[in-house]
Amino acid sequence: MAAVNPPWAMLAELTHGCPLRCPYCSNPLELTARRAELTTSQWLDVLTQAGELGVAHVHLSGGEPLLRRDLTEIVAGADRAGIYAQLVTSGLGLTRERLAALTAAGLPSVQLSVQGADAASSELIAGRRSFAAKERAAALVREAGLPLGLNVVLHRLNLDDIDAIVDLGIAWGAVRIELANTQFYGWGLANRAALMPTRDQLDRAREAVERRRRRTGAELVWVVPDYFDGVAKPCMGGWGAVSLTVAPDGRVLPCPAAYDLPLDLPNVRDHALAWIWSESSAFRAYRGTDWLPEPCASCALREVDFGGCRCQAFALTGDPGRTDPACALSPDHGLIAELSARQGGELVYRDPAGR
Ligand code: SF4
Ligand code: FES
Repeated sequence: MAAVNPPWAMLAELTHGCPLRCPYCSNPLELTARRAELTTSQWLDVLTQAGELGVAHVHLSGGEPLLRRDLTEIVAGADRAGIYAQLVTSGLGLTRERLAALTAAGLPSVQLSVQGADAASSELIAGRRSFAAKERAAALVREAGLPLGLNVVLHRLNLDDIDAIVDLGIAWGAVRIELANTQFYGWGLANRAALMPTRDQLDRAREAVERRRRRTGAELVWVVPDYFDGVAKPCMGGWGAVSLTVAPDGRVLPCPAAYDLPLDLPNVRDHALAWIWSESSAFRAYRGTDWLPEPCASCALREVDFGGCRCQAFALTGDPGRTDPACALSPDHGLIAELSARQGGELVYRDPAGR
């Protein structure tokens, strides 16, 4: 077997617990219970192994990672392992004292989620009062001298507010604003029609991003809406190619949205991370391009997009091994046109108890 390059990045989902109820949540329908989470020493061991494996960047995420009382120890573990850590948080629960402890433990950066450009639109999606806490969290991060990133998931209810969202990010001191069009996985699938934008909305939003890019100091990142472009995205930079996800209970996934795929997911409680990365069947399933079906197998773009997204192929066709239906060349592309035309409806919020 050919040698496998080491992973560069790791997503550490420290907990599925979360104070927010976002309808676009891409975490699975079945969330990991708090009592099933890895212990502090297990997370520290995972980080040590990750550093030895070659991981250079970890997102400490969830759910809401601040719900873990041992977050400072976990941050220190990443620092000892030589891994650059970014805390990905809703901001709820961040205090000056907590941030001081995290910074002293070696935390180098924070990414804050916000759901809209103002309190009303943000809280409509978050499902609870949260905007003021986010604004406070942004100020604390700036005061601590850490670089702040802002993440905004885009959909039909906020795509018309790009200018106001960018203004908000600049006012809050963000150096990077990620404008991520909703990817429909996990809980988000139940809200696909309610969140599905129109093509006109997307065109206007894309123009606004281009215009703001030319005259805004902050870096603007636009995560493409693949239902509308007729192009498959090189999802995860290729399956098992650059990153891995460790779930709250120690399962390891090639993609954070792959919980429901028919894979035998390995667990750090049973196997070394190095074995999981290079040998486990879950990571080998769609690695490289040899497994690709037609039309991908004979397509000039197969080394560029690797046949697109496995989770989307599974969600739409029931077979993760098919060409991503987002691609205009896919025999299943008609499904995308049909689904993207279904628009509107009530939002279904996540259960605040985290189910
Ligand atoms: Fe990519 Fe496959 Fe579509 Fe070619 S046919 S563009 S490889 S998804
Ligand atoms: Fe899982 Fe694309 S979201 S492979």
